[in-house]
Amino acid sequence: MRKPMIAGNWKMNKNRDEALQFIYNVNQEVPGKEFVDTVIASQDPVLRDLVKRQGDNLRIAAQNMHEKTEGAFTGETSAELLENLGVAYVIIGHSERRAYYNESDASVNKKLHQAFRYGLTPILCVGESLETREAGETDMFVKGQIKEALKGLGSEQVKELVIAYEPIWAIGTGKTASADQANETIGVIRESVSALYDASVSDMTRILYGGSVKPANIDELIAKEDIDGALVGGASLDPKSFLTLVEAAAPKK
Ligand code: 13P
Repeated sequence: MRKPMIAGNWKMNKNRDEALQFIYNVNQEVPGKEFVDTVIASQDPVLRDLVKRQGDNLRIAAQNMHEKTEGAFTGETSAELLENLGVAYVIIGHSERRAYYNESDASVNKKLHQAFRYGLTPILCVGESLETREAGETDMFVKGQIKEALKGLGSEQVKELVIAYEPIWAIGTGKTASADQANETIGVIRESVSALYDASVSDMTRILYGGSVKPANIDELIAKEDIDGALVGGASLDPKSFLTLVEAAAPKK
């Protein structure tokens, strides 16, 4: 019922030539959008170039945006500008932004509201540190992140929202959460959306897994009931490996 999604998060990688080359390489190969939503999140300065060259089955995302509409916020990008550029999605609250740029649950919440105001679909990231997992507090922690992030959002917005569960200890480390671990915590996230809204909402919300996803582990992850796709860093940089992930997520006919 939920359409799978594979979103590549390039982070601060690829110059303009490399970014354009990637899009040329994958455009013709991406499976139909009736099967899987395929998204690439690039650095801001090439967003427009990529939007202009995106094929029918590919959409472009920003990796962050500011919560305010406009003003004296040097170095920031507004939701309005992203919308003007034709960007479809925006990643909000990635753990790297939370860790290095002090993003709080409160600012994540404001950004979600602002993204919806400008017709952008947010990809909300949540996930625990190794310390939190080892203390057995993962469920409580992610529930708290979800509750704070979704404050004031309506059911229709939450149905459209994409959530990415990215355990911090699995990002860029080569350590993937096992498919069972990922499915279990994603189940907890879905339950908390259901408790805040109801099951008709949480049944629609797509929840991705992120953290060292690669061609070798995608099949096992995507086979799990609650995992609707992946948010992928390192393995999204190479067109071949990215396409393998997208093809694995497209339902087999
Ligand atoms: P890796 O796939 O490189 O572990 O990164 C995951 C991630 O942070 C995607 O947003």
